[in-house]
Amino acid sequence: MSAAGASALWLALVLAVVAPVVLALTLSLPAASAAGFSCRPGARPVVFNFGDSNSDTGGMAAAKGWHITPPEGRAFFHHPTGRFCDGRLIIDFLCESLNISYLSPYLKAVGSNYSNGVNFAIGGSTTLPRDVLFSLHIQVQEFFFFKARSMELINQGQEAPIDAQGFENALYIIDIGQNDVNGLLSNLPYDQVVAKFPPILAEIKDAVQMLYANGSRNFWIHGTGALGCLPQKLSIPRKNDSDIDQNGCLKTYNRAAVAFNAALGSLCNDLNLQLKNATVVYTDLFAIKYDLVANHTKYGFDSPLMTCCGYGGPPYNYDITRSCQSPNATVCTDGSKFVSWDGVHLTEAANAVAAAAILSSAYSIPKLKFDQFCKV
Ligand SMILES: *[C@@H]1O[C@H](CO)[C@@H](O)[C@H](O)[C@H]1NC(C)=O
Ligand SMILES: *[C@@H]1O[C@H](CO)[C@@H](O)[C@H](O)[C@H]1NC(C)=O
Ligand SMILES: *[C@@H]1O[C@H](CO)[C@@H](O)[C@H](O)[C@H]1NC(C)=O
Ligand SMILES: *[C@@H]1O[C@H](CO)[C@@H](O)[C@H](O)[C@H]1NC(C)=O
Ligand SMILES: *[C@@H]1O[C@H](CO)[C@@H](O)[C@H](O)[C@H]1NC(C)=O
Ligand SMILES: *[C@@H]1O[C@H](CO)[C@@H](O)[C@H](O)[C@H]1NC(C)=O
Ligand SMILES: *[C@@H]1O[C@H](CO)[C@@H](O)[C@H](O)[C@H]1NC(C)=O
Repeated sequence: MSAAGASALWLALVLAVVAPVVLALTLSLPAASAAGFSCRPGARPVVFNFGDSNSDTGGMAAAKGWHITPPEGRAFFHHPTGRFCDGRLIIDFLCESLNISYLSPYLKAVGSNYSNGVNFAIGGSTTLPRDVLFSLHIQVQEFFFFKARSMELINQGQEAPIDAQGFENALYIIDIGQNDVNGLLSNLPYDQVVAKFPPILAEIKDAVQMLYANGSRNFWIHGTGALGCLPQKLSIPRKNDSDIDQNGCLKTYNRAAVAFNAALGSLCNDLNLQLKNATVVYTDLFAIKYDLVANHTKYGFDSPLMTCCGYGGPPYNYDITRSCQSPNATVCTDGSKFVSWDGVHLTEAANAVAAAAILSSAYSIPKLKFDQFCKV
């Protein structure tokens, strides 16, 4: 296909995705923001999280028995926790904002405390295929298992970490799709990638609808990040720089992320209208994470496209055979100067900026505060 043909097709696809979104959002904002989150007075906030490594607080390490080694965790926990980061993830900062403890991974057998909620996120997870470990669907099934066992205990007169009202009033966060979009981009040309979004979005829709049918009412959905700014993608050899934008990121990857998010935002808006008494907030993580790179000096970052923990030196310091967890990786002295920790995941410093942006509500539709679901 010619370049002109390709860009005309791209434009058509973008419009097909974006135009209905803009229209739908304009028409429905009053309805969407009317419900809002709510909590019974005096209740502790409860959060259930579903996702991939962006919000995995140790689930993958627990599930696979992985021995994760330093320098993971060095900037905050001072030891590896199973997070793919030098410190806290976005979800950790969100929990801090609610004054609740960090979420324990569902599969972590020792030292977990589920009284504030449960983290079902597992590194590498996708929405599809639907029935493999640890797809979104499996994570939701795990939630139902957890809920059923809790209800059993309570019905027997025993205690459970979370009671019926806790489940009902909880916030349900979904942050997944990055690995689906990334996997498609690694194997298919752009136009075919976008054509494969609907079944991915259908999985997210199904997850929300199943949770809703079971009484969940407060949903917080994250879009995918700036895939084209990840050192892992940038370090793939290329013929020339025609696909590099003014901030040094890959245009095609980012276009795909933006198109995915447009469709996800539209889906969230539809769900907001369909699901009575429910609130579904969509937050644009692409805009937040792209801003980190484009405006990095404003946030005190020196090298937005280079890993802190990796191998090979500038411009990306990323080598897939010598990644952060390999013995041959090198690590920077001051991670707070870097956006990327290991080529795929952000540093704690970048996660802090991203979490603050989420908490500002500036990137959310409807623009509800994160803690609005449970003012205690
Ligand atoms: C945060 O929670 C702790 C108990 O977990 C409580 O002692 C403290 O007062 C709370 N802080 C705020 C600001 O609500
Ligand atoms: C679990 O966390 C809650 C809330 O932070 C706390 O009140 C409780 O004591 C903890 N339970 C255990 C067994 O540590
Ligand atoms: C909701 O979950 C509970 C506990 O797992 C289960 O008993 C109940 O049948 C579910 N209800 C629906 C409508 O899915
Ligand atoms: C750059 O590479 C792309 C394919 O990756 C090719 O389509 C394009 O013609 C190249 N541009 C130049 C100026 O060589
Ligand atoms: C919505 O909320 C109202 C008022 O609390 C309640 O009567 C109604 O049953 C709820 N409907 C659904 C579908 O949750
Ligand atoms: C960079 O920051 C400026 C000023 O805050 C803002 O207007 C612009 O949208 C940001 N750029 C990106 C790509 O987010
Ligand atoms: C890692 O370093 C060791 C020792 O220097 C060397 O033998 C090995 O080949 C290196 N592996 C890679 C993938 O670079």
